[in-house]
Amino acid sequence: MDSGQNILTDKTPSALFLVLTINPGGEGAVRDALEGLEGLVTTVSSRAPEATLTAIISIGSDAWDRLFSGPRPAELHPFVELTGDTHTAPATPGDLLLHIKSSRPDLAFEVGRLWTATLGDAVTTVDETHGFRYFDLRDLTGFVDGTENPAGDDAVQVITVDPDDDPEFAGGSYVAVQKYVTDFPSWNALPVPDQENTFGRSKLENVEMDDDTKPSNAHTALTNLPDVDGQSQEIFRDNMPFGDIAGDGEKGTYFIAYSKTPAITELMLRNMFIGDPVGNHDRLLDFTTAVTGTQFFAPSTDFLADLPE
Ligand code: HEM
Repeated sequence: MDSGQNILTDKTPSALFLVLTINPGGEGAVRDALEGLEGLVTTVSSRAPEATLTAIISIGSDAWDRLFSGPRPAELHPFVELTGDTHTAPATPGDLLLHIKSSRPDLAFEVGRLWTATLGDAVTTVDETHGFRYFDLRDLTGFVDGTENPAGDDAVQVITVDPDDDPEFAGGSYVAVQKYVTDFPSWNALPVPDQENTFGRSKLENVEMDDDTKPSNAHTALTNLPDVDGQSQEIFRDNMPFGDIAGDGEKGTYFIAYSKTPAITELMLRNMFIGDPVGNHDRLLDFTTAVTGTQFFAPSTDFLADLPE
């Protein structure tokens, strides 16, 4: 089976997220840069072999047809915008996503800098977010983020397109990103028991509430989906805190999820923004605002090594 890109790494101390749009006529340069990325990562890694450095490249729905004339991943479509009674998940532009993870921020910066330099004016960077690991894998809200992620073989199964479902694109993964800007003055004014009800977990010990006490609008109540036909409906999240300190500096969570089908992430988002039942939206959204939303496909390494026409 085709192997996926290096998605399932441990959380690194830093990550850089670059979302780019392809300018008219830039398609040829982008194809060259897709083919050159692996070599570039190897070059930068060779200067610090002890460090972790990986880069995952993903391609958006509209860009797919501009870059390749052949078949496309069966479920690749633009991010589905959602408007609930109170909160909105906007869809925002993005043709390419470069997700760079490293134990050293300078290496992630170097890959991003060199790769975008090779692209020159073929692309426009529409979002650049530098994420950092915060204490023991905590989000800036103070809660541990990522605990219930699948691990090991389960995680491979959760993120990898099955050859039976879409043989041409086996080994790839669908990717969704959203940048969330959090209102920390109002979050920090919320008493800790109410914060815990918001996530459905305790803050210090990170223990999950039992079903009898967890509110139905808790983040983990709305994102934990029941199995269907014995299959778990999970995603692999690799969120990172980001932010500026001074003035109105934006800070919050860069959400990124990999999955074998976009449908699972989309259902979680519906539960969060529209509510389950409708109107019972995720309490977390009363404190944080999604300012971007874009969907991509991360092809297998075999696909990237030998791009189709
Ligand atoms: C769980 C934070 C957005 C899906 C959690 C947890 C935290 C958290 C602290 C509990 C620990 C864990 O299992 O990771 C956040 C923050 C977000 C955000 C701060 C944005 C500001 C999202 C979005 C989705 C999502 C957009 C899906 C579309 C999940 C899932 C779980 C989870 C599936 C595990 C639920 C379970 O099985 O218990 N999140 N999250 N999260 N989150 Fe989020």
